[in-house]
Amino acid sequence: MTLSVSGLTAVRSGRTIPHPTSLEIAPRARIGLVGASGSGKSTLGHALIDDLRAHGRSVAHVPQRPDEALDPLRSMAFHWTEAARALGSPPNADQRKRLFAALKIDGGDLRKRPWGWSRGMQQQFVIAMALIGIPDLIVLDEPTSALDPVVAAQTMDLLDSHLAATETVMLLITHDLGLAARRVLNLTVMDAGRVVEASPTADLLDRPQTGAAQSLSAHRSWLALLCGRSKAFRSDAAKARRWRTSGCR
Ligand SMILES: Nc1ncnc2c1ncn2[C@@H]1O[C@H](COP(=O)(O)OP(=O)(O)OP(=O)(O)O)[C@@H](O)[C@H]1O
Ligand SMILES: [Mg+2]
Repeated sequence: MTLSVSGLTAVRSGRTIPHPTSLEIAPRARIGLVGASGSGKSTLGHALIDDLRAHGRSVAHVPQRPDEALDPLRSMAFHWTEAARALGSPPNADQRKRLFAALKIDGGDLRKRPWGWSRGMQQQFVIAMALIGIPDLIVLDEPTSALDPVVAAQTMDLLDSHLAATETVMLLITHDLGLAARRVLNLTVMDAGRVVEASPTADLLDRPQTGAAQSLSAHRSWLALLCGRSKAFRSDAAKARRWRTSGCR
């Protein structure tokens, strides 16, 4: 089912912000929400989540900071049980073991409180909680910011394969254009609290239209980042030529 939102508002620090954005998102879409720090990505994510939940849609959220999701006074076991209960599924020890093993946090002691786990482990734990059910939308706000590159790539692979069998829409919020370029086929760019550009990833990296997109892509060789991507990015002759001159094979 398509997710449609308009007339969004977000409450931030007690302030209600009307959000000048409407979105129509197709089932299974994978969208990257990118923009400079402070451009309003998380705020739009929160507005989207609140609106969809108010309309009865299920949304899983991996917030930018794990402590937004974890109560420092509660054990990790408590968080896990509560997350399962909120999703209407009985706690499933096998599923938990599978997710923890895949995310490499099976060494974590569930009796401990969040501060007994490293920040990276907390981030993985919050991702595991988001994967308990099959939501309409999963919002991942800088989901790998506390992880080393190898674990980050494995985590994103796990998310990809977990979501592949579902209709769940994925919104990947990041200021890391490289991460977004490797993981999603469509990018939405934010600047000063607004969506300023939205296009297929390859087009946006090739021909950024707005100042915000241009400055995001200005400082690195994005074509090199795309070397490992699918052949879809190399589909026309001009692109293939640029691939060759950028060192891609
Ligand atoms: N549409 C808006 N109207 C007014 N203020 C906004 C709007 N969107 C965001 N803000 C404000 O801008 C500030 C930065 O927003 P936000 O935290 O969403 O940015 P971000 O892109 O997620 O930044 P970072 O990459 O650092 O996480 C916040 O104080 C937020 O309240
Ligand atoms: Mg943010």
